[in-house]
Amino acid sequence: MNVFNTALAYLKYYLKAQTVYKIHSPFLYDMIAQCFRDKREYYCFKQIEEVRTKAKKNTQQITLQDFGAGSRVNSGNTTTIAQIAKSATSGKDKAQLFFKLAKHFGAKTIVELGTNLGISTAYLASVNSENTVYTFEGDPSLVGISKENFKSLGLNNIEVVEGNFDKTLPMFLGQFDRTINLVYLDGNHRKAPTLQYYEWLLPYFSDEVLIIVDDIRWSDEMYDCWLTLLANGKHSYSLDYGTFGLIVHKPATPMLKAPADIIYIDSKLKPWQIGLFS
Ligand SMILES: C[S@@+](CC[C@H](N)C(=O)[O-])C[C@H]1O[C@@H](n2cnc3c(N)ncnc32)[C@H](O)[C@@H]1O
Repeated sequence: MNVFNTALAYLKYYLKAQTVYKIHSPFLYDMIAQCFRDKREYYCFKQIEEVRTKAKKNTQQITLQDFGAGSRVNSGNTTTIAQIAKSATSGKDKAQLFFKLAKHFGAKTIVELGTNLGISTAYLASVNSENTVYTFEGDPSLVGISKENFKSLGLNNIEVVEGNFDKTLPMFLGQFDRTINLVYLDGNHRKAPTLQYYEWLLPYFSDEVLIIVDDIRWSDEMYDCWLTLLANGKHSYSLDYGTFGLIVHKPATPMLKAPADIIYIDSKLKPWQIGLFS
């Protein structure tokens, strides 16, 4: 997407988005209150951010493998770990929000597509050492670096699956005998592959599952992919947060005749929507 189209996509999001004071669904209201508006610093945050800071200063060069148009990092090029840390990993606020979401949903089994340096993985795995995060990454150098990061953080509940998702995901699922509580889709940002990964994962979803789809406004086709995921109507709730979206599958909820879909924005960005006049 060029700069103009990106700006337009975010302007449309901004105009449609509603603050927490306009949310009527108790489930979504609760999720926003417990996760998006929770400003607590949890025990592991400082340590993981130290790993990020160290990576941002690391000038070691690596050559990344090319995963095609969907790869956000400098695929096929030689770059530095510092550059990757600055451009391809989830930012602090986003990664910490994912920690809170995994905690809120009590997610015991997590699948992440796109490990990169392992920053988001580390947050998801730090919620509870009894949980397991299966994280998928195609680039061998990134697999090595992420494993070192997990070791330095003392995280033993992460399994890294190396190789192209197109091959590794179906192979992995073919032998998988658990159900999944949280999925984080953060690699190969193209419509057809993302929909395919979702379809492959679907039979393994537990009764309640949270799916995080990153970079939904990264390109027209990713936004189209987001709308297609919502149009299939298999979910109970969704929340569009501009850069990423959340989809929740839940067993039939009384009173919920159709999925509750919201476009959400922090109230500090729409300060007049504070509920006094609504
Ligand atoms: C945006 S980064 C992930 C960032 C990480 N989740 C975080 O928030 O810190 C996406 C990663 O997915 C990997 N990737 C993209 N397409 C892939 C594919 N088809 N198979 C395997 N890995 C892929 C890239 O190598 C890259 O490291």
